Amino acid sequence: MKKVLVLNGPNLQRLGSREPDIYGSQDLSALLKQLEESALQLGISVEHHQSDSESELISWIHRAIDEKLDVVMNPAAFTHYSYALADACKALIAGGQRLVEVHISNPHAREEFRHKSVISASATGVIAGLGFDSYKLALRYLAS
Ligand code: DQA
Repeated sequence: MKKVLVLNGPNLQRLGSREPDIYGSQDLSALLKQLEESALQLGISVEHHQSDSESELISWIHRAIDEKLDVVMNPAAFTHYSYALADACKALIAGGQRLVEVHISNPHAREEFRHKSVISASATGVIAGLGFDSYKLALRYLAS
């Protein structure tokens, strides 16, 4: 069975209580439950990790390279400035894997510093602004 790695960056363990007007009132465990359900329907499995640490996220991308896994990642604030994470993503794509960058909110409709993603150029595609559906659509794409 195909496995997809789902990575969530800093502060996303605070979903549900963090800026609910922007990110909604459902927490990270609700997101994971919905992703498990989607995965079941799509006939794939998902492995999820959340971290506030750039280094940990980079290590999981390295693992995806070594184990040939496609990745759905919400890099959260690292989206806007982590060249180290972008370099890891570039290596993942160069190795033939697919990476979908996802965002719950639409960063382009928010503060100026969120308008730039240093990750997007190293992603297969980007889905933003659709709430938890951003992740589910990414899974659907990667399942095919
Ligand atoms: C986010 C958008 C980022 O700008 C922000 O730093 C996040 C979450 C999103 O999912 O909408 O933490 O990636």
